[in-house]
Amino acid sequence: MDRLAPSSGIALDPVLRARLTALFDEGWEIWRRFDVEVRQREWHPFVPADYERMLQTLLPLRAPGRRFLEWGSGAGVITIMADLLGFEAYGIELDEGLVDTARGLAERHGSAARFQAGSLLPSGYRWRSPTADDRTGTIGEGESAYIGLGRPLDDFHLVYGYPWDGEEPLMLDLMRRYGDPGATLLLHGGGGTVEMFRGGRRVPPLVRT
Ligand SMILES: C[S@@+](CC[C@H](N)C(=O)[O-])C[C@H]1O[C@@H](n2cnc3c(N)ncnc32)[C@H](O)[C@@H]1O
Repeated sequence: MDRLAPSSGIALDPVLRARLTALFDEGWEIWRRFDVEVRQREWHPFVPADYERMLQTLLPLRAPGRRFLEWGSGAGVITIMADLLGFEAYGIELDEGLVDTARGLAERHGSAARFQAGSLLPSGYRWRSPTADDRTGTIGEGESAYIGLGRPLDDFHLVYGYPWDGEEPLMLDLMRRYGDPGATLLLHGGGGTVEMFRGGRRVPPLVRT
């Protein structure tokens, strides 16, 4: 596994910028519909990330051949963005309806991003918190997605998740036990922050403001 280093130039080609803006606009439109049609009727864990913040986070991490995985890819915007930025991008999502939404979005935006229905938890994984509480919060149960994806977790250079409060330790544990030791984990926080971890340790983000 390579070590991540900032790519030299992060200027965004205007054509790519326009494609990303169109993707984000449609992503927000999908979210508005999902909120009215699904979330206002019953609770659902899907809430979208800050797309612009994620763009700024991913830009300096681009490099040829780098594989990106989104845990819980929702409507697919971040995985599709990663593909358009040049990553080999995959998303795993438990809700099959959202997987269909993401595949449709990818097709409309000319993206080769791949989406797999199933769980981000590898088969046999059991979460054991330091307090022996094995509840996984909003991270639901289902058949593990990695076999369908055709790649184990340690095939990815960059893994991204948007955990709900209190679920960060589980995602760090997953990376520690199943991820490549040189891989980078990006965790989106509820306040729109993005934290970066390597080898289980927090590292400064490469975002330029
Ligand atoms: C907070 S949302 C994040 C959506 C998207 N990653 C983003 O950043 O915009 C969490 C997503 O994880 C999905 N999810 C929950 N449990 C899962 C599991 N075990 N495996 C895969 N996806 C899961 C939910 O359905 C939801 O879409």
